[in-house]
Amino acid sequence: MSDLIDKMEAALSEALADLDAAADEKSIEEIKIRMLGRKGFLPAAMKEIKNVSNEEKPLIGKVANKVKTELNNKISEKLDALEDSGSAVDGIDVTIPGRQRKIGKKHLITRVIDDCVTIFRRMGFVVVDGPELEDEYHNFDALNTPADHPSRDSQDTFYLLDGRLLRTQTSPVQIRTMEKQDPPVRIVCPGRCFRRDTPDATHSMNFSQIEGLHIDTNISMADLKGTLLMFAQEMFGEDVEIRMRPHFFPFTEPSIECDVLFRNFKGGKDSWLEIFGAGMVDPNVLTNVGYDPEKVTGYAFGLGIERIAMLKYDIPDIRYLYENDIRFLEQF
Ligand code: PHE
Repeated sequence: MSDLIDKMEAALSEALADLDAAADEKSIEEIKIRMLGRKGFLPAAMKEIKNVSNEEKPLIGKVANKVKTELNNKISEKLDALEDSGSAVDGIDVTIPGRQRKIGKKHLITRVIDDCVTIFRRMGFVVVDGPELEDEYHNFDALNTPADHPSRDSQDTFYLLDGRLLRTQTSPVQIRTMEKQDPPVRIVCPGRCFRRDTPDATHSMNFSQIEGLHIDTNISMADLKGTLLMFAQEMFGEDVEIRMRPHFFPFTEPSIECDVLFRNFKGGKDSWLEIFGAGMVDPNVLTNVGYDPEKVTGYAFGLGIERIAMLKYDIPDIRYLYENDIRFLEQF
């Protein structure tokens, strides 16, 4: 038996062992080139065939074929296995359908605030902000509501030990704004408010308001009415009407509640629904912030965001707005 055959057999088993150990495509490819490539082992071995006897030549040809097929078989087997195991190694099954990402959107309350703010800005109002954690002075006293005022009863709230409280209305922002700047003032302030309310379909311990304040020379009730009407029409449609009813707030004089007429409300008859609390800013409030009530006058109004959201989007229970159930929220 010729040395050549031994050499070929030895090279074959070495290459097969190397293939067994190969862990990636690159090393498999290297073994293939080493053995079968143009300058590789097998072509070189075939050149030596001229040195062997004629009887042995067919046998060497047979062995050469065996080397070739066994290597090729082993190589494709290895490549297949590598392909299959690739995903398992990474722990990723690329055949599983992707997870669908939902595109988020604004919460309904934020959206209604944005809508209100857009309308008021077009009328020349500037947006301001104020603290949710207020002091008693700004939330009550400066708003003409001293400690013994009966109005405080309906606005009980959460108090901190240091006397601060969670604001019951956005009205303290009126005071904070006027303390900081001279007239004219024309602001709206959206924000969260808190009261000691028992939750039900129309009450919540926290809710949102938008405050409006306009102070300048010669501001009258007519300006208030025009502003509220304009807002109502922009928000609910051209065909709504408003009406003003006498009311009481400690910090406005006269005070009103303003209703909006909804045609065919919920498919039924026309209905007046209360939307705004408002009035002419009480001279005491102007004095409290250092304004001269003989020189400037103004109006203020407040509206409940949740109420508007519920009316506009036909929501039967205020609590839906806070439960953050996606099945509810994604409808809007
Ligand atoms: N702050 C009042 C409330 O929460 C609403 C209001 C605002 C009334 C401004 C008059 C002027 O009920």
